[in-house]
Parts: sequence; structure tokens; C-alpha cells
Amino acid sequence: MSEVALLQVIGLAVVGTGIVILLFIRARFMRVVGFVVIVLGTFALIALGVPQMASLPPAEEKFDVASIKTAADMAAIGQKIFFSKGQCALCHSIGPSESARCPDLKGIGAKLTREFIYESLTEPQSYIYLDYRHEGPPKEYPARMPYINKNPIGLSKNEILSVIAFLQQMSGEKITVSPSEITQAAETPAGAKVAAVFPVHGASQ
Ligand code: HEC
Repeated sequence: MSEVALLQVIGLAVVGTGIVILLFIRARFMRVVGFVVIVLGTFALIALGVPQMASLPPAEEKFDVASIKTAADMAAIGQKIFFSKGQCALCHSIGPSESARCPDLKGIGAKLTREFIYESLTEPQSYIYLDYRHEGPPKEYPARMPYINKNPIGLSKNEILSVIAFLQQMSGEKITVSPSEITQAAETPAGAKVAAVFPVHGASQ
């Protein structure tokens, strides 16, 4: 018997006891007790009837290194990360948008080099961009660009490289991140070559 069903049986027993008291016992005090027991039991039964839903954090996008064969595979994963775990789309639009709170990233892969994008994501306070889209002096954006490689977003290096591949692809640029740069499982130090370009910040898968 499931836990909920067991509790429902107990609830029914409680309500039943209350009804028996009301039917057969004349003493005023016991009748009040019976009434209270029926109300509480009914309340519990209704509460148990409400479907239970556990609220779990969204399923993590699994980064399957083995599935990456081409630069386009990386960009496809990067696109998923952009709209899910990376939370980029919470702040950035791709293409002009009135509601966007932060820089429009349309064409960003053509404007910035991959090294610069990498730095924009991991050292966001190095260069601060202001909002020029209105009259008067440029303002600060209402949000701050978060450190993408640190909590709470905490993307791994593989994930950041994929996001860069996506930004380049959606800007119509050639993807300069190569699948061979994706660090394989920890025991293959194939990433050493990459590490020379981008120091590995510990958390690469
Ligand atoms: C909490 C809001 C927020 C989130 C989430 C966010 N950004 Fe930003 N981002 C900003 C702000 C604000 C700026 C401009 C100010 C600055 O440069 O610090 C910016 C700047 C940038 C820039 C530099 C833009 C330029 O024109 O040079 C890039 C590239 C960028 N973000 C990419 C990303 C990517 C990719 C993600 C997801 C992995 C992301 N951002 C997530 C707020 C955010």
C-alpha cells in the first residue's frame, strides 16, 4: 500500500470514529470531540486527494563528449546551453528586443573574437558595456553579466566552448572552436593542448 493510501485509510477511520461518536454517544463533550474529529479527518482526506507533485530542479543538459563529432554538433549543444543551463536568454536577446535587459547578442560572434567572448563570460567585470539605446548619456544595464564559469550558473569549459561555437554559428561566422578542444574524460590529458590557450579552471567535467 502506498504511503498516501495508508494515510487515506487512517483519515477514513478517523472520520468514521467521529460519526460513530455522534450517532451513539449523547454526552455533550464527546459529541463536540466527535464533530471536531470529523472536520479534521475530512480536511486531511481532501488534502491527501490533491495530487502530489515533487518540485525538482530542471533536468541537467547532459554533456555527452562522445556525441560531438563536428563543430556544428558543438554549436547545437551550445544553443541548448544558451537557452537552458547557461541562462543567457534570461538577459540577452538575439536580435533587437524592447524587453531585453542586456546587450543584444545578434552578430556577436562576428564582432568579438573567441578569446574576447571567453573573457566576457569568465571575467565579466573586465569590460563593462553600457546601454546606448536611449536618449541622453549611456546607462548601465539593469543587470550584471554573471561569472558564467562560477556558481550559480557554473558552466564547464566544454560548455563555454560550445556556447562560443553557437554564438559564432548564429552570427554566420566560421566556428573557430574545434571539437578536438573538448576535453575528454579526466584521464585523457588531451586537453593539455587547450589548456595552453585557456587555462582549465578545475571544473571541466
Ligand atoms: C543576469 C543577466 C545576464 C546573464 C544571465 C548573461 N548575461 Fe551576458 N551580459 C549581461 C550584461 C548586463 C552585459 C553588459 C555589461 C557587461 O559587459 O558587463 C553582458 C555582456 C555580455 C557579452 C559582451 C557583449 C559585448 O557586446 O561585448 C557577451 C558576449 C555575453 N554577455 C554573453 C553571455 C552569454 C553567452 C551568457 C550565457 C552563458 C550570458 N551572457 C548570460 C547580462 C547577462
